[in-house]
Amino acid sequence: MPKLPIIEPFRIKSVEPIRMTTTEERVGLLQAAGNNTFFLRSEDVIIDLLTDSGTGAMSSAQWAALMRGDESYAGSPSFERFEAAVQDILGFEEVIPTHQGRAAEHLLFSIFGGAPNVIPNNSHFDTTRANAEVSGAIALDHPCLESGDTASMFPFKGNMDLIALRATLECGNVPLVMVTVTNNAGGGQPVSLENLRGIRGLCDEFKLPLFIDACRFGENAWFIKKREEGQGERDVTDIVRDMFDLADGCTMSAKKDGMANIGGFLACRDKDLADELRRRLVVTEGFPTYGGLAGRDLEAVAQGLREVVREDYLAYRAASIRYVVEALHERGVPVLRPPGGHAVFLDAARFLEHLPWQNYPGHALALELYLEGGIRACEIGTVMLGGKDPETGEETPAKHELVRLAIPRRTYTQSHMDYVIEIIDAVHKRRATIDGVSILKSPPVLRHFGATFGRITVGSPLGADLDADSVGELDTRRVRRETLDKDV
Ligand code: F0G
Repeated sequence: MPKLPIIEPFRIKSVEPIRMTTTEERVGLLQAAGNNTFFLRSEDVIIDLLTDSGTGAMSSAQWAALMRGDESYAGSPSFERFEAAVQDILGFEEVIPTHQGRAAEHLLFSIFGGAPNVIPNNSHFDTTRANAEVSGAIALDHPCLESGDTASMFPFKGNMDLIALRATLECGNVPLVMVTVTNNAGGGQPVSLENLRGIRGLCDEFKLPLFIDACRFGENAWFIKKREEGQGERDVTDIVRDMFDLADGCTMSAKKDGMANIGGFLACRDKDLADELRRRLVVTEGFPTYGGLAGRDLEAVAQGLREVVREDYLAYRAASIRYVVEALHERGVPVLRPPGGHAVFLDAARFLEHLPWQNYPGHALALELYLEGGIRACEIGTVMLGGKDPETGEETPAKHELVRLAIPRRTYTQSHMDYVIEIIDAVHKRRATIDGVSILKSPPVLRHFGATFGRITVGSPLGADLDADSVGELDTRRVRRETLDKDV
């Protein structure tokens, strides 16, 4: 059969208007937001690529499933459908719903965290790291060596470094090993089945449980099918089962490959562990058959999990990311390759090579994307993942200075992506004029969500009027309140 070109495998039934803004408006809006894109109102954003989490479009089957949501406190059939979907697709018998991924992490670390424990992962996502650290444990990242080069075409740059993992396990105090598929902090890059088997082997040797951070498991399985030797002819659903058969449990944010707007779960094989988790769940999340979710949310996730493993969907999803990555690469824009599963990552260290890491090039670039074309993206660099020297207390840089343009599922069309390519290209052409930023105020944890920023020097043609003093005094809540009052 001749192969058809890949298109969006859906029609659009309901649309949401996008409000266009002018450059002058965006300069003022960004200033009012303390130069932090997390403080922008979504109505002031033209293309919102801040996250792929909970921002996707649901299918008509998911909307239909909402109507049969049963809101009973206990024993809801919606939970039974949710549980069955997780059991069928991932193969874990014990299924514990949570309101989102970080609640599952919090529960897991309430048992496995605490000092002096050490939790290794290929790369912790920021909430996973925060939950491990808040419990008193140390979160260690062991990404594979190939992930260090943003231009290398190694197909599984999400892999874990097995030599580093072994060294950590030999030091002791490790209660469990985690692996994140795909590796979000490392660029949405996949983990191979071969690497997962290697991790399992080490877990067996040291008698430790393995938990998968499963947020983007469908995308990971698709890359295994496409990139790993001997997997090309296999069904994605079988590859998914192979991945999870190697693990003892998983944490999941259903806001990603659950294709839902909210939801998550923790799943495992050990009944005693699950019972203990359920006892803790009741205290903070809710009864074990709803875990902080409405019955209709459980229905949306149950249906979403079945949709995410459809191969026509996954082929389109991968093609839509690849389209942007390759177009930018052809224009000479430094972009992380090979294309990942859920986002386009710009390499801001190479994009703005005149800025040292202390001037947060990733954050500076994210601001310019908004000023140029109303695109909201997110820094994944030193602002988000930077550390502290334990002796001097001085800030230390993240491994990479990336800007993530996360693509919501089934939400934007190819012409939206053409717009994104043009805007990035325009910013790239004037890159030499772009200034760095400094942090003015910052919360103690997860600072990217709450910090305000000022410009280091003034020179950018678009951001010229953003000076540190005016932003430093800003009360972003007041500004937002005033804007809301105006709307009413
Ligand atoms: N693990 C990974 C790999 C994630 O990407 C996220 C969320 C979480 C855990 C936490 O899940 O948001 O449901 O509590 N990532 C979002 C993002 C926020 O934008 O990448 P959550």
